[in-house]
Amino acid sequence: MTTKNESWGSRIGLILAMAGNAVGLGNFLRFPVQAVQNGGGAFIIPYLICFLLMGIPLLFTEWSIGRFGGKLGNHSTPYILDSMSKKPIWKYIGVFGIFTNIAVVAYYTYIESWTFIYVLHSVFGTFTGMGKEEVSLFFDHYVNLTGSDLGIPFLPILVYILILGVNVYILSTGLGGIEKVAKIGMPLLVVFGIILAYQGWTMGSDFASAEFPNANAWDGINFLWTPQYDSLADPKVWLAAAGQIFFTLSVGMGSIQCYASYVRENEDIALNSLSAGFTNEFVEVLLGSAIVIPIAAGFLGLDWVMENAGFGMAFQTMPYLFQQWGAVFGAIAGISWFGLLFFAGITSSLAMGTPWMGFMKDEFGWNKVKGAISFGLIALAMGLPTVLFYQYGYFDEYDYWAGTVSLVVFALLEIILFGWVFGIDRGWAELNRGADIRIPSIYKFIIKYVTPVLLILVFIGALVTPQGNDWSGALATLLEGNGFTFDSSSLISKITQEDVKEQLLLNPDKADFF
Ligand code: PHE
Ligand code: NA
Repeated sequence: MTTKNESWGSRIGLILAMAGNAVGLGNFLRFPVQAVQNGGGAFIIPYLICFLLMGIPLLFTEWSIGRFGGKLGNHSTPYILDSMSKKPIWKYIGVFGIFTNIAVVAYYTYIESWTFIYVLHSVFGTFTGMGKEEVSLFFDHYVNLTGSDLGIPFLPILVYILILGVNVYILSTGLGGIEKVAKIGMPLLVVFGIILAYQGWTMGSDFASAEFPNANAWDGINFLWTPQYDSLADPKVWLAAAGQIFFTLSVGMGSIQCYASYVRENEDIALNSLSAGFTNEFVEVLLGSAIVIPIAAGFLGLDWVMENAGFGMAFQTMPYLFQQWGAVFGAIAGISWFGLLFFAGITSSLAMGTPWMGFMKDEFGWNKVKGAISFGLIALAMGLPTVLFYQYGYFDEYDYWAGTVSLVVFALLEIILFGWVFGIDRGWAELNRGADIRIPSIYKFIIKYVTPVLLILVFIGALVTPQGNDWSGALATLLEGNGFTFDSSSLISKITQEDVKEQLLLNPDKADFF
């Protein structure tokens, strides 16, 4: 039923595609906001520890599982997990690895479509001469579908469908198309990022104004980079750090397994998985922290940033600030910023599209074109209600299960499958077959014991605390259809309310609802 021998064209293509998968909107929109909201330098140590103890082990696991499945001709988690155990349950568990991608990609491509239209606005100078409020309102009108941008009503929906269509088209061309986009998009993204980071690093306090006399870009950088050890005891910071690591590395979703299923049987996965993972961290920690926060701090001051840090800054504030650099550099900065977001977004949304296509192929033998079109239709069916009615937030409950709980649960189950059911010795051999580096054997222990225990802790910490420990209030809001109001120190709250509202990024003006 499956074509066994389709594989990545080259090693560099594979690494760029996998890095493109990981490097996404999360690096530039989610990371800086998480860092600021969790105390700046207080965030970075838990974050790095979570990278080492959960991120890397899960990368090893998912790459190994994926390549193992691909060897048997399977390209979707239901079939791949099924091939690793005799128990039929694993096939059903594998469905998580498809469902989550579709649920997330429906939003993700919508945000991608905003970045695309904002590139055009930067080219055409739409924001030239607009005041701060006006730029911010412009965005509100757009997402509320109340403006008629360029004189076209419902433009956001058309742009959304267009961008989804671009994804479908690229997916229909197969791995070759994905590699091509990654080869163009990833280097461009880094160039754009460096242009903006350079601006952020060099602007200092030149733009302090009467309104914001203390503005200084370096305050933003120092805030993010000065480690603070006292926060190490704060579970809330740890949970936020774990959530960010999951999201940014694309683990727990089934998309890495799918990409890895196209790696040749004896081709290295040890070094490749680390290369892709570290590329993501490089882009996240160096570039992700050098743009929005320092630039906003450079104009508006760190206090403003700390009060207003949120996903909306990217679209509501940045275009206004860029204008202050003059028309030409303002346009360059706008194109760089939204272009960077666009490429970060599309290389990730493609990665979320492939699991569905792999499943259609494994299950029904569907070809790429059929797979890609069916993906587009199902993503559209899930995304449209949100686009149309997003201000009512009725997708919250659904997002919570799809984009949050499912991620942690799936990661936990798959690492148990890998380390315990399939067996760590077989798993370790699988990971090391064809390896170009020697992975420290401590990771064998970490994969088997440490990561599963940490995942269980994260899961428990995430689930149990309702806001102010008020169970009846939380249940009441749940019955009213407003979701379960978790305590702000629980991971679920971190991920649902911030992923979905702010980071998955749909509802910036309602974010304070929680
Ligand atoms: N890692 C991506 C980001 O940082 C998001 C993503 C998750 C992409 C899962 C693919 C699969 O934005
Ligand atoms: Na990322």
